[in-house]
Amino acid sequence: MPLDTVSLGRTGTTVSELAFGTWRFGRADDEGTIEVGRERAHELLDAYADAGGTFIDTADMYGEGRSETYIGEWLADRDREEFVVASKIYWPTREDPNGSGLNRKHLRHQIDRILERLGTDYVDVLYTHRWDDDTPVEEFMRTLDGFVRDGKVNYLGASTFEPNAWKVVKANELADRRGYEPFSLSQPRYNVVNREIEGNYLEMCADYDIGVVPWSPLAGGFLTGKYTRGEDPPADSRAATDQQFVDSYLTEENFDALDAVEAVAEEVGATPGQVSLAWLMHHGQVTAPIVGARTVEQLDENLAAADISLTADQFDRLTAAKRGV
Ligand SMILES: NC(=O)c1ccc[n+]([C@@H]2O[C@H](COP(=O)([O-])OP(=O)(O)OC[C@H]3O[C@@H](n4cnc5c(N)ncnc54)[C@H](OP(=O)(O)O)[C@@H]3O)[C@@H](O)[C@H]2O)c1
Repeated sequence: MPLDTVSLGRTGTTVSELAFGTWRFGRADDEGTIEVGRERAHELLDAYADAGGTFIDTADMYGEGRSETYIGEWLADRDREEFVVASKIYWPTREDPNGSGLNRKHLRHQIDRILERLGTDYVDVLYTHRWDDDTPVEEFMRTLDGFVRDGKVNYLGASTFEPNAWKVVKANELADRRGYEPFSLSQPRYNVVNREIEGNYLEMCADYDIGVVPWSPLAGGFLTGKYTRGEDPPADSRAATDQQFVDSYLTEENFDALDAVEAVAEEVGATPGQVSLAWLMHHGQVTAPIVGARTVEQLDENLAAADISLTADQFDRLTAAKRGV
């Protein structure tokens, strides 16, 4: 079934119930090999759009700009208005003391590069990729507000400020006092095994009516069930080349939570990954999880999560599989 549409948080825009993340587009490994090249990227975007997907997530630093370029080339053959495109600014993109963060100079430089690469006059959502301790909040909120007034950006989002809810509060209270555009969306990490946002941060999002667009909904692939306790990871998986990923995800505690996911998957006749996505999609505060996929086969499996219904008991068991704060 094609993906349903949902409201993009409190905004008047609608998006498909699953977003598609393009972090791996154009990303080079240590030997310089591109993980998802142009052709595969376009196949993935075709498959996503064919399934009714409309919400594309990228960032200025993904693949050193290649992710946005591939998307821009693909959008050139499509009706841009049918898609809701989100990008992000913060991380260094060039050797320059002002070439990172949320300072005005970097923001103004980057927004034009983003629009150029995407081949569009505006992005639907611009996220601050991280909080910037070195730039006054007044400076970046005013600059971001200018982007909205100029029609370069429709909505603002805050990515990975968690667990510090006060940062969003500080920025939005200032925006309210000054009449600036506030953050209406947030993009935190959230999945069955990463619960840092439960409690304070999610309560803040509810209170400020901020939409939650979770990244790494499959815990980078851990929740697909492709990793087994005590066994080497599959050769072509993220864990095979990323020791930090192994240390943070392939833990006993996470494998215990995965047991609960696999039990529910068995009951509903779905894969553990689909059940993990369905858990987020049944969560009252989640707008649209951002699925990642390296292949069309992975993407198709993930998009089919939209067809899964969980009972209240199954939802509660997944919630209890690992607790946040
Ligand atoms: N705001 C931020 O700071 C931030 C941070 C991270 C990500 N993001 C956004 O969120 C998106 C998703 O993040 P993510 O890639 O970590 O998400 P994810 O959905 O948790 O993990 C995706 C990875 O899991 C594996 N996978 C996915 N589907 C699979 C399947 N059906 N079967 C087996 N393996 C499967 C693939 O890795 P392998 O095949 O290589 O194992 C894939 O690259 C990114 O593209 C980006 O847009 C944002």
